[in-house]
Amino acid sequence: MRQSHLFTKTRKEAPSDETSKNAQLLIRAGFIHKEMAGVYAYLPLGMRVLENIKKIVREEMNNVGGQELMMTTLQPKDIWEKTDRWDDKKVDNWFKTALKNGTELGVGLTHEEPIVDAIGEYINSYKDLPVMVYQIQNKFRNELRAKSGLLRGREFVMKDMYSFARTQEEHEEIYERVAESYHKVYARLGLGDITYRTYADGGIFTKRFSDEFQTLSDMGEDTVYVSESKKIAVNKEVYTDENLAKVGLTKDELVERKGVEVGNIFPLETKYTDALDVHFMDNAGAKQPIIMGCYGIGVSRLVGVIAEHFADDKGLVWPESIAPFRVHLIQLGNTADKATALYESLIKKGTEVLLDDRDAGAGSKFADADLIGIPYRVVISDKSLERGGLEFKKRSDAEGAIITEEELFDRLK
Ligand SMILES: Nc1ncnc2c1ncn2[C@@H]1O[C@H](COP(=O)(O)OP(=O)(O)O)[C@@H](O)[C@H]1O
Ligand SMILES: [Mg+2]
Repeated sequence: MRQSHLFTKTRKEAPSDETSKNAQLLIRAGFIHKEMAGVYAYLPLGMRVLENIKKIVREEMNNVGGQELMMTTLQPKDIWEKTDRWDDKKVDNWFKTALKNGTELGVGLTHEEPIVDAIGEYINSYKDLPVMVYQIQNKFRNELRAKSGLLRGREFVMKDMYSFARTQEEHEEIYERVAESYHKVYARLGLGDITYRTYADGGIFTKRFSDEFQTLSDMGEDTVYVSESKKIAVNKEVYTDENLAKVGLTKDELVERKGVEVGNIFPLETKYTDALDVHFMDNAGAKQPIIMGCYGIGVSRLVGVIAEHFADDKGLVWPESIAPFRVHLIQLGNTADKATALYESLIKKGTEVLLDDRDAGAGSKFADADLIGIPYRVVISDKSLERGGLEFKKRSDAEGAIITEEELFDRLK
């Protein structure tokens, strides 16, 4: 993409009502647009990051056997009444609306009920199970306080997967398989070393815990207790001597840290399948309960977490796996023809390039490149050509080096 065609521009200042660092940076760099508190639009650069994250999540969910679908935002009230989750006293962050004739509707905040209802039409015998379905979709939650930019929104993008199993054993095998795939997702996003599977509140019935995935970072709202050697953590909300004993941990091996919840998986037992009367017939023709799990990843929250976590005092620093472009090619002086030729050969090799072909000085182009945070900066200028080629610098490096075009292709391989 040519930067002269990109309609967004960088800005010196973020809106004065925006206090979170991730949103400030993403707004200043032209990745997102703030509609209102907790509601952000994705502009071309932000959209590319979001789509790159979705692609990684999709690949890993497909790898563990998930089938992608898309449920609806508008929700009929009756299925939520069956599970006792319609009442505002039971679920306090619904957005609700109504048809012209007065029929009440819910605006989807999660999708256990509609998913169970839909797959129930296709599950009859034990041969129809197990099943895993997922979607990547906007969720709407009337949060009391939208805060921390993309970390806590009222409209946000979530990947939610649901599994349906015939036995507890089958459920547990799926649950662990998905937990493993979550580690792969966070590793591919560059967060592997700092993201911990974490015992947390929210499990129901027999299993006392849900499992959160917490990215350790000072921006986090959650307090977690971490065992680095065992690569496991415990959320403060379940941090008691009794619970620690249950999971074989002791207080002296745990260190207190701040974390951001980037994912949460729950064993749901038969709570929703029973309530919505979705069962299967075993091979003797007897009606059996279906054991369910659900698995969330905060896709848009991850945009904010990654933006804020890796940023430096000059701007964003994207991990290669999700950067909006791989190379920021900066054309300076009388190099337009050479820059265009290089741009085209990079694209031919499958490299995603943002070409800064704007009529602007080196200082402002470099400042913009730093703010936008594309992993590799390549400068083509009269000076670089005199010195034998191109100036190449990683976003995270302080100094660049002069290399030839061939060397550039090599480094980008
Ligand atoms: N208001 C929100 N804004 C952005 N992301 C959210 C929000 N609420 C939840 N998420 C993300 O979606 C994931 C799954 O949500 P879930 O665990 O159901 O929500 P909660 O933890 O609020 O009960 C969370 O781990 C988090 O990463
Ligand atoms: Mg949660």
